[in-house]
Amino acid sequence: MDYLQSAEKAAREAGKYILSNLGRTKQISFKSKESNLVTEVDKKSEELIIESLLKDFPDFDILAEESGASSTKNSEYMWVIDPLDGTTNFAHGLPIFSVSIGLIKGNEVIAGVVYDPTRDHLFSAAKGKGAFLNGKKLSVSKTKEIKKSLLVTGFPYNVEENPDFCFERFVIMTKNSRAVRRLGSAALDFAYVAAGIFDGFWEVKLNPWDIAAGLLLVKEAGGKVTNFKGEESDIFNPQILASNGHIHDKMIELLALAEQIQLSV
Ligand code: IPD
Ligand code: CA
Ligand code: CA
Repeated sequence: MDYLQSAEKAAREAGKYILSNLGRTKQISFKSKESNLVTEVDKKSEELIIESLLKDFPDFDILAEESGASSTKNSEYMWVIDPLDGTTNFAHGLPIFSVSIGLIKGNEVIAGVVYDPTRDHLFSAAKGKGAFLNGKKLSVSKTKEIKKSLLVTGFPYNVEENPDFCFERFVIMTKNSRAVRRLGSAALDFAYVAAGIFDGFWEVKLNPWDIAAGLLLVKEAGGKVTNFKGEESDIFNPQILASNGHIHDKMIELLALAEQIQLSV
């Protein structure tokens, strides 16, 4: 079994489990504050994924959202796992969430899977081999004008503190694009850029498990992923700008402009 097959198997198993719990009463606890939820489904999903991956690759390291760095064998390979991306949606019964599993070697993502169990959408990518949705090759959009672009963003859990100008950036992008959506699952935001649905995605503060698989999907679909200055990004860089490449410079320009405006709210 190769890396991708192993990640796909684990993501499908976890996705099936998550879906079977959608709409059921869940035990919700809070990580830091009331907006930062975690359910028992996040935790169980993570257990299932780790068990499955370690069965196939017992010597790989693991970094997962709920349990942290649980397998530290000093391997050059590390699975980076978000067992349920879109927990708030899931907890409210909104069917927009995913499982995200990336594999890094050194600092580079070499395989990634994002699985949306509600639509049975399996997004996958291996370095140098392209990005796929249920086996069909993906390409980013060809949109060249920001005014004709459909963008997406997300907000961190401390959004009320407006970290890194996140409100200003939202206002500028909304005024200059066709529309800005906010799905609540960063892994799906990346996957939809890879699929050519969204033309661009930015977020001010993401974690490695939100980024790993999605970053590779976008790159392998022909897109670009950087920080807001246009510098090459890795999974440990919280600022993410992912786009079809054509609108990247314009997005950088607007994101920078946002730092100079003053909101009257
Ligand atoms: C969150 C989602 C959301 C993003 C947040 C993430 P979680 O992940 O990806 O779209 O805006 O920054 O923390 O907590 O649902 O796994
Ligand atoms: Ca997440
Ligand atoms: Ca999560």
